[in-house]
Amino acid sequence: MKKYITTPIYYINAKPHLGHAYASIATDVLARFYRAQGDEVFFLTGTDEHGAKIAQVAEKAGEMPVVFADKISTLFSNLSQVLHLSNDEFIRTTDPRHEKIVQEFLQDLYDKGLVYEKQYEGLYCVACEEFKTEKELTDGCCPVHKTKAVKQNEKNWFFKLSQFKDQVKSIIESDEIRICPIERKNEILGKLKQGLDDISISRASVEWGIKVPWDDTQTIYVWFDALLNYFSAPKIYSREFAWPPDLHIVGRDIMWFHATIWPAMLLAHGEKLPKEIFVHGYFTVDGEKMSKTIGNVIDPVELTGKFGADAVRYHVLRDFPFGEDGDVSLDRLKERYNNDLGAGLGNLVQRVLSMVKRYQLPGIQYKASDGDKKQHQRIDELTAGFQFQQALIEIWKLIAQVNREIAEMTPWKLAKEGKTEDLKIYLEKCFGQVLQIRDLVAPYLPETAEKITAQAETLQPEPIFRKVD
Ligand code: MSP
Repeated sequence: MKKYITTPIYYINAKPHLGHAYASIATDVLARFYRAQGDEVFFLTGTDEHGAKIAQVAEKAGEMPVVFADKISTLFSNLSQVLHLSNDEFIRTTDPRHEKIVQEFLQDLYDKGLVYEKQYEGLYCVACEEFKTEKELTDGCCPVHKTKAVKQNEKNWFFKLSQFKDQVKSIIESDEIRICPIERKNEILGKLKQGLDDISISRASVEWGIKVPWDDTQTIYVWFDALLNYFSAPKIYSREFAWPPDLHIVGRDIMWFHATIWPAMLLAHGEKLPKEIFVHGYFTVDGEKMSKTIGNVIDPVELTGKFGADAVRYHVLRDFPFGEDGDVSLDRLKERYNNDLGAGLGNLVQRVLSMVKRYQLPGIQYKASDGDKKQHQRIDELTAGFQFQQALIEIWKLIAQVNREIAEMTPWKLAKEGKTEDLKIYLEKCFGQVLQIRDLVAPYLPETAEKITAQAETLQPEPIFRKVD
């Protein structure tokens, strides 16, 4: 089967923080998991580079937006190495091939009479790149970014979004586009009940953007441009087979754009729709969303430098359910690293391989038993169902169980007593279990899985996670 899966494309107003790494890590786990099942995967990520927000920070830095964009976008694309992400492509909205597709798409909506001009006054949150209603603001400030919304009054081009309200509503209700978790689906449906207004899709005051094809005094609204990355990428990278998207992974602050505006744009153009949108929660630090604007960010590069990519991947998916908010912390990461990874998984691999090496049993065979396969299947179902935390809990139960069994079985006594056949059967089982655990952790901890394979092949056991103080 083909699977086209995406992360949001990240704003390049500042270097990446751990919150950005979250969707990328989760999407990577799924990409690796699907590939292992034999699916043909197109895993896309990238950067969202136009708009007022970027223009403002570039100006502050005294740089041309294009220079600024190149610099920060590289930090995001480098995250693939830092976090071992297996994305197939990395799209930038400043890619001229993308820009052309966006213009053609908008021109088509214009030709179909779905775009009109109107004088508009509203309150704009630059950090969200979104108009807000008075009701959505607290003392005139955006509740997410805590920054003041600014009054805008200009002539813009509008997309007749309201025309698609009923269609979008029934598409979501019927799960033609599945929105998960279910609470998020209900939230969208509740909001849709209140109405769906036409939206401004161009800006007169923002120069840093793609020009409206029939009106060069205006640039295309950054969200209209950004959402179309999912559409332009298969064309740009000759992956047409992948269209339409099977899964968009997005944070809850941007689900509205993905669940309403995006499907309406595609309906307007006469395109197939994405199949599923999974909405995840926020990393919080002391209860606040981790964000550059708030100033409480954790740097993924620093963390991986100290603990390695796999430990960071493990911590963010293990500590709270994907889909809910949860606190991340250095102390918790260290604890997980030393206990779950070092004393749990690392210790098991080293113990088993050391015994196999030491006793050198001729004719020993390594394979997973049928019972183990069932367990494997159950854990695979959890991964496929976005229950990453639960899947990891189950894998670590298995690790603890095998470690416990070894302590109880005392195989070294079998060796001492000369019970070679019993020892062989037992070590075959343990080795099989290590290989099974390696396969189970592979989508989550790809580097560790590779190390286990290399050590198992060469029988050169070495600590995988050295203790960190
Ligand atoms: N550029 C838009 C997305 C366009 S997609 C067509 C954008 N960029 S962003 O850089 O601000 O955010 C990208 C993603 O990171 C969003 O899904 C957002 O929810 C997520 N996160 C940003 N901070 C986060 C946390 N503190 N925790 C978890 N995810 C967070 O929005």
